[in-house]
Amino acid sequence: MSLYQATASAPVNIACIKYWGKRDTALILPTNSSLSVTLDQDHLRSTTTSRADASFTKDTLWLNGKEEVIKPGGRTAVCIEELRRLRKVAEDANSNEPKISSFKLHIASYNNFPTAAGLASSAAGFAALVSSIAQLYSLDKVLSASQLSLIARQGSGSACRSLMGGFVAWQAGQLADGSDSLAVQVAPREHWPEMHALICVVSDAKKGTSSTSGMQRTVETSPLLQHRINHVVPQRMKDITAAIQARDFPTFARLTMQDSNQFHAVCLDTEPPIFYMNDVSRALVQLVVEYNRAAGEVRAAYTYDAGPNCVIYVLQKHVKEIANLVVRFFPLAETFKDPFALFASEKIGELAVP
Ligand code: ADP
Ligand code: DP6
Ligand code: CO
Repeated sequence: MSLYQATASAPVNIACIKYWGKRDTALILPTNSSLSVTLDQDHLRSTTTSRADASFTKDTLWLNGKEEVIKPGGRTAVCIEELRRLRKVAEDANSNEPKISSFKLHIASYNNFPTAAGLASSAAGFAALVSSIAQLYSLDKVLSASQLSLIARQGSGSACRSLMGGFVAWQAGQLADGSDSLAVQVAPREHWPEMHALICVVSDAKKGTSSTSGMQRTVETSPLLQHRINHVVPQRMKDITAAIQARDFPTFARLTMQDSNQFHAVCLDTEPPIFYMNDVSRALVQLVVEYNRAAGEVRAAYTYDAGPNCVIYVLQKHVKEIANLVVRFFPLAETFKDPFALFASEKIGELAVP
């Protein structure tokens, strides 16, 4: 008897140009293109095992050991059904393929970092889910990462960008069926190996407003979002792509900080307003601003997703400097060193020096 099982991991990605707003909530089609950096596998990641067996009576997902209900027609179900459909096509075309598409799936996933805390767990989570089922169904050999990104996108928009390493753009696309709304690699990690991300975990608590509901409210109420979509993001996508290609850190950093600021401004422009950053987040902004001012050049860029946690992009040669500063002003922070100098500081508490 064969065991039909596969395990895959996917890292988180942290956007420099933010996705915030859907033009189609069912297909998860965004109001604007976005661009992110996928972090290395050995830090913040989801690991997912999928198994198909004739004895299983329903598709079941366990997240961090707890069963998550798979709603019919919901996001997880849509990803599973699409992969199952593609598996069925392969089975029909090749009679040697074991007929496992009719079996139900048991899926177990673990995040090695806080879930739903604004550290892109939905991105790593759905990328790992799609990867593991694609492997189980041997679809990873026939579909490209961009093709798989079309499926992961329907689990969580940001997940489409976690199927590739390095610098990744999610092209908003124009078609109503979403077939051109996919992720493409702008540059591999090796293109700019000096680039690092310092993850500052300000709080690991679950956020009050999920990304999904928060951005929907923004679409419905924020006039500033319309300005952002039409007049700001298109040029920023071009500029940041050029900065990445030229390895121009100051331009990359400026655009990243501006876009984080505008994303949080759009949240504030939402009715009722959404506050994802807190006092510690704002103190970290000041720290980076002051660090850059003192250096006389832009050496670090902060960015915040839908939560209070800070990610600082910095080149290798300045990682120690900025990490030491963070630890000095936030003494509860711990840093974990590794060969790629990606530091994680845990639970940054009170600001030591106001
Ligand atoms: P985050 O900022 O962490 O991405 P979101 O509000 O976007 O927060 O999404 C959190 C949700 O993503 C979780 O409540 C869960 O439904 C889903 N999710 C997180 N991790 C996984 C995972 N490993 N596998 C499947 N779904 C996941
Ligand atoms: C602020 O991808 O989590 O992190 O598509 O509804 O699942 P859904 O939302 P999600 O939103 C991410 C928002 C963000 C910015 C980004 O990652 O681009
Ligand atoms: Co998310």
